Amino acid sequence: MKVTSILGSPHTHGNTATVLNELERPFKEKGYEVVRYCLGSSDIHYCLGCKSCYENGKCVQNDDVEAIVESMLESVLVIVASPSYWGDVTGQMKVFIDRCTPYCNVRYTELLSESIIKGVAVAVRAGRNKEENENLVNTIEHFLGHLNIPLISNFTAESVDKAEDLMENPKIIENAYTCGKNIVALLEGLQE
Ligand SMILES: Cc1cc2nc3c(=O)[nH]c(=O)nc-3n(C[C@H](O)[C@H](O)[C@H](O)COP(=O)(O)O)c2cc1C
Repeated sequence: MKVTSILGSPHTHGNTATVLNELERPFKEKGYEVVRYCLGSSDIHYCLGCKSCYENGKCVQNDDVEAIVESMLESVLVIVASPSYWGDVTGQMKVFIDRCTPYCNVRYTELLSESIIKGVAVAVRAGRNKEENENLVNTIEHFLGHLNIPLISNFTAESVDKAEDLMENPKIIENAYTCGKNIVALLEGLQE
């Protein structure tokens, strides 16, 4: 079984990636295939707003978006992770979301209407309060909802700016791993 992770940070090995590693770890231990896409190092162009996908369900541009969506379609779980940039997901993530308009359930086709795919949101931020990260979770839930992928869990990490912040707070890493384990159990329960 496959899990697709989508990392919205420009840092392939940054804080969000470290948190994601821990969430993914229980899946790897259980033998799931985990495929991660780092949007910062992917070839993804801005939505041109031409709306031709409204008519035919296809984007006029050819880049990495289609391969990422194909991977999502093959998965039982999609994990969407982003650090907070100005209180919301990164620009990289927002561009990817815009480019998923061909797959949006109010547009051409309900590509995923019969799917068993579930979603998880991950948000990481420098600031201390959780409210701002909840904003990111809402953005991700809104996005996945329009792909007919219900959010079954989320994980947020606060007070994480530099890499040292994570090293000095092992509880976050521990909690991310536990959250991953709980999601594995939840998914397996849903599949029974
Ligand atoms: C352009 C930019 C905007 C940011 N905006 C916020 C913000 O609004 N709120 C916040 O708590 N942290 C903000 N941060 C801090 C990041 O969320 C934080 O450093 C995070 O740990 C980075 O994760 P990464 O290493 O995965 O990229 C911002 C960082 C950058 C570079």
